[in-house]
Amino acid sequence: MVILVLLSLPLIVSGQFSVGISLSVCVKDNQPTQIRLAFIPNGMTVSWTTSSKANSPTSVVKYGLSKTNLNKQASGYVTTYGTSNFHNVLLKGLTPNTIYYYQIAASGTVGTSGKYSFKTAPEPSNGQFTVTILGDWGSTKFLSLIRIPTDPVCSCSGETLKALKKKLSSTDFFWHLGDAAYADDFYLQTYYKRLFPDPYEALLDDFQCTLQPLSSTKSYMILPGNHEVKCAEIPVYDYCSKSNSNFTTFLDRYRMPGIESGGFSNLWYSFDYGLVHFVIINTETDFPSSPSGRGTLLNAGNFGTKGAQLKWLENDLKKANNRRAQIPWIIVGGHRPFYSSAFDSICDICRAVFEPILIKYKVDMYFSGHAHWYERTYPIKNGKFNKNPNSYTHPTGIIHLTTGAAGNPECGEGQVSPASYSANISYQCSFGQLRINSRTNAKWTVFDTTSSKNMKIIDQIDINIKH
Ligand SMILES: *[C@@H]1O[C@H](CO)[C@@H](O)[C@H](O)[C@H]1NC(C)=O
Ligand SMILES: *[C@@H]1O[C@H](CO)[C@@H](O)[C@H](O)[C@H]1NC(C)=O
Repeated sequence: MVILVLLSLPLIVSGQFSVGISLSVCVKDNQPTQIRLAFIPNGMTVSWTTSSKANSPTSVVKYGLSKTNLNKQASGYVTTYGTSNFHNVLLKGLTPNTIYYYQIAASGTVGTSGKYSFKTAPEPSNGQFTVTILGDWGSTKFLSLIRIPTDPVCSCSGETLKALKKKLSSTDFFWHLGDAAYADDFYLQTYYKRLFPDPYEALLDDFQCTLQPLSSTKSYMILPGNHEVKCAEIPVYDYCSKSNSNFTTFLDRYRMPGIESGGFSNLWYSFDYGLVHFVIINTETDFPSSPSGRGTLLNAGNFGTKGAQLKWLENDLKKANNRRAQIPWIIVGGHRPFYSSAFDSICDICRAVFEPILIKYKVDMYFSGHAHWYERTYPIKNGKFNKNPNSYTHPTGIIHLTTGAAGNPECGEGQVSPASYSANISYQCSFGQLRINSRTNAKWTVFDTTSSKNMKIIDQIDINIKH
């Protein structure tokens, strides 16, 4: 969503920045920061950031089954731009459903990290788990500077962080549906430009440092949103250098299993977790008339050859649908919704391009963000739906779930009348948890994070499938 930023710009420029919130650079010369995990098949990628001033060319992780005996070691690779090094080490051939301990080894002027642990993905036979799902978040530190106080979604990102920390032990991994740090919105503020040599990178760093308590112990799977494309979504001032455009920062700062799944880096990829095959699509670029693609304001993309993303999606879903006896659930995520009562958030071209493929291979659910609220539709197929609470048992279409209300500087959606296919809307700050109970049953629960103390349940449904 972009409209509210334009509206709130005068507010920002006229100086709401009083009290001493400072953007300290959280990347240290002598210590690994922003430690983050992401799945690879039978393993885990450990990623972290160091300052490019540090003499730290290597990326080594020690790991093992016992905290006091990290008897294995793996080396990785590093990419560098701006003032940071981004390190990635792939731990391969791990045992499923098993706790591993790890520590980033000292290198050059950089010391060791603390010791952390994670649990590997289970096999389908051992398939119960909970994934925490959220979208459209934003730096927790700076949001208060530009909030419109009456809008709940503008003021809650810190509460969301607290709520996610409270849910950490009941979460097997996190899934962020795009629009992560909103560094581009904050970057637009000339105020920050005067204070920091590179505020865009500093804001991205700050967001990742904040996430470390979550991402160092649970995989933090992420997909691309429009706010990841370049440093200024609205080119009021086009300050963005080449290295701040075309998803450069997003591609360097995460390491999703694009290579392992035949997709493209962090932009389109898939992975298995227990009884679910998760598929990530890029709703921004790399399909005809894509909203952030070549020739648009954001002018990004063409990462793959012509048609590569859609061809990959078709192949990936075809394979997944052919092994449903083993892995029955197929869940797709992309940033932009195909259906929404917030009509200006709907991506019609995404629906036209992706939905027929998702229907063909009987995808169970499609998760999106972009609209800054929570919404659930009835299962939809070719525009048809059945307005009946029982339609979630053996659904005849795809259930569309939008969870874009983690809190962000552009605030929430205005009141609208629900679309005909809409089953539940919440304007509150929220995130969801999907609990896969069995081959046929899942429970979807949405928590209000206006206050992390209460975390009231605002929506809950059972989904029962049969393939
Ligand atoms: C974006 O990056 C990709 C990969 O490096 C490159 O092929 C493409 O030409 C770039 N697009 C633009 C608009 O610069
Ligand atoms: C959404 O679902 C919750 C719980 O199932 C219910 O209390 C609430 O009234 C629903 N909201 C709407 C708009 O239907």
